[in-house]
Order: sequence, then structure tokens, then C-alpha cells
Amino acid sequence: SIYSVWALILAYLIGSIPTAVWIGKSFYGVDVREYGSGNAGATNTFRVLGKKAGIPVMLIDILKGYAATSLAFFIGLSVTGPHHSVQFVNYQLALGITAVMGHLFPIFAGFRGGKGIATLTGMILAVHLQASLLCILVFLLVLLITRYVSLSSIAAGFTFPLSTIFVFHVSVRSIIVYGMCICVLILVTHQKNIERLMKGKESKVNFFKKKVV
Ligand code: G3P
Repeated sequence: SIYSVWALILAYLIGSIPTAVWIGKSFYGVDVREYGSGNAGATNTFRVLGKKAGIPVMLIDILKGYAATSLAFFIGLSVTGPHHSVQFVNYQLALGITAVMGHLFPIFAGFRGGKGIATLTGMILAVHLQASLLCILVFLLVLLITRYVSLSSIAAGFTFPLSTIFVFHVSVRSIIVYGMCICVLILVTHQKNIERLMKGKESKVNFFKKKVV
């Protein structure tokens, strides 16, 4: 319906809010894309501007994914019949991925955005709470052990489809298909990180270090 089209546009615009760029520019006079990994995301904001900037960016970017995904409630109003719940999840997934695309290619920041991990987190939290909590647990464990955010993101990304299949026995096929697509997307957005990881040149999180700029 026409509602779906508007919801998808809105999801893209929500995802497009360049939190890292705007917080960096307005409170620090810094475009985080010019420092560190050059990524407009929570991790690089932590790296460049510290946790006072990084935490809000992370929370807002998660919220973007959650809010855009939850627009499914508005489209869902017109959906009835036996396939209601499956269709609802399909809307959630389509809206969530659209928001992630907005985050990757933000119309409000010259289409140079982030890698979508926080926004994906918000999306999966809305779609399957238990599986996403498991992903967050895996993320934190890998981060604690290796101190690589990128590697933790990749590990958490794989945890989503694997856990929906093998742990939670999800029967909605689109969740599994999207889960696998998310894995591929994360591998694509983290290409440079993977290269650096293999060369041993990826930067590690220092939980005690002060900001760079
Ligand atoms: O959230 C993205 C993260 O996985 C990697 O970010 O800045 O280290 O490339 P960054």
C-alpha cells in the first residue's frame, strides 16, 4: 500500500540521521570521518572523541534501527488474516534494512555514513529480542577477549542467523534469510577492517585510554 512506501522513505530518512557526524561537528567541531578509521559510527566516535560522545551516538544509532523497524506497526494496521505475523516480520525486516541503508548512505551527510552495526542492533532487537541479546553477549565476549570492535561485530553478525536457526528454531524463513544477508552486508562493510585484522594492523579498544582529539 501507499503506507508502506511512505514508511520505507521514513525509515531511510531515520537511518540517514548522521549522529556521529552531527554530534562531532556540533559539540567538538570535528568531523569524525577525518580521523581514526574514518567511519561515521559509534566506534570511531569513541575512538576520536571519547565515551561522552560515543555513548550517545551508539544509543541514538540503535534507536534509529529500532524506531524504523517499529514503523511496521503502522503498516501492520492494514494487515489481517492468517499470515499477519509473518507479514509483520517481513515489514519489520524491510524497514530495518532500509534504515541501515540510510545509515550507510545518509542523504544528510553526503552519503558517507557508517557500517550499520548499531542500527542493525536496533533492528534485530525489535525483530527477535532473545537472539539479539545473544548477539550482544557474543559481541561483548569477543570484545573483552580480543579488543577488536570490528571482529566482535562480525562474530555477533554470524550469531544472529545461527542462533535463530539452531538455538531458537525460528520458523519464519525471512528472519533466517535476512540474517544471512546481514552477515554478508557486515563482511562487505568491514572489508578494510578484515584486511587490517589479517595484517595485524587493526586498532584495539583501550578501555582506559583518553580521547585522541
Ligand atoms: O561499528 C563498526 C565497527 O564494527 C568498526 O568500526 O571505526 O573500527 O571501523 P571502525
